Amino acid sequence: MVQHKSVLLEEAVKQLHIKPNGIYVDATTGGGGHSSEILKRLSNGHLYCFDQDEYAYKRSKECLDSIGKSYTFIHSNFIHLKNELLKLGVSKIDGILYDLGVSSFQLDMKERGFSYKQDAYLDMRMNPSQLLTAYEIVNTYSYEELVKIFYQYGEEPFSKSIARQIEKERMDKPIRTTLELVEVIKRSLPQKVLKQKGHPAKQVFQALRIAVNDELRAFEDSIQQALKLLNSDGYAVVITFHSLEDRICKSIFKNASTPHNIEGLPIMLEEEAPFELITHKPIVPNVEEIEENNRAHSAKMRVIRKR
Ligand SMILES: C[S@@+](CC[C@H](N)C(=O)[O-])C[C@H]1O[C@@H](n2cnc3c(N)ncnc32)[C@H](O)[C@@H]1O
Repeated sequence: MVQHKSVLLEEAVKQLHIKPNGIYVDATTGGGGHSSEILKRLSNGHLYCFDQDEYAYKRSKECLDSIGKSYTFIHSNFIHLKNELLKLGVSKIDGILYDLGVSSFQLDMKERGFSYKQDAYLDMRMNPSQLLTAYEIVNTYSYEELVKIFYQYGEEPFSKSIARQIEKERMDKPIRTTLELVEVIKRSLPQKVLKQKGHPAKQVFQALRIAVNDELRAFEDSIQQALKLLNSDGYAVVITFHSLEDRICKSIFKNASTPHNIEGLPIMLEEEAPFELITHKPIVPNVEEIEENNRAHSAKMRVIRKR
């Protein structure tokens, strides 16, 4: 099994400005790469490790336990950030990290149905106890809904022809597996597109994964909660891999770091906004990291600090 290579590992942990006694959250624990580095820097502090995939606990446990510091794994979607922390008596935190998207272990586990390279039931749930699967979307959503998903989340230029082909073929029999879907996609694309570099199903698979896991809404809701939980001089660090995720992050961080004047009161100075925007432009991986880790090529990191 391929080891998950954490993206922007050193840089993300550096940007958290870890206080050894602080309370930290890794919202996306995955294989525990970032969590381990955070944990190593804590003394009396505590790390809360979220992941909606219970398997992430198995993957990260050994490595985190070996550090010998105090942490708590929370098997939950980070959309429940505030409530899950409150249940544990935590109402303020000193830093939070989001490293969005999928882990390599999720892609590698054939039966999870994330990969267009291995045949499996069309699943794509990060949380296997959730009801909605990619099978459900592909076989029951209307033509219009499919076009919207493929176009918005996958930026797929052939969204309409792919959705039309799906609609036609599923009338005969359901499209059950990942490779059956790949074949349907191939049948809907012109020859010259099929000859181009890159896998023809990549964008549709990405779009379906985002839709199945409602990734954009979960992130938008959670980061808003996170900003309210931050202590003064606390940092939120976000690594995105998709332009829509990055746009959400950019806009929320910009809004939080912009002073909003109330009519009748003197104009506020930039330093009076509740947050300081640390990254006016996103931090991106260097050439060496991108060469070493293909996943890093679309990564963007944004950072904000509570004043
Ligand atoms: C890119 S991986 C994180 C890798 C990790 N930083 C590391 O160094 O190993 C993203 C992880 O976030 C989890 N995840 C994605 N969306 C989530 C959500 N809404 N709530 C909780 N976990 C989520 C996925 O299950 C996956 O394990």
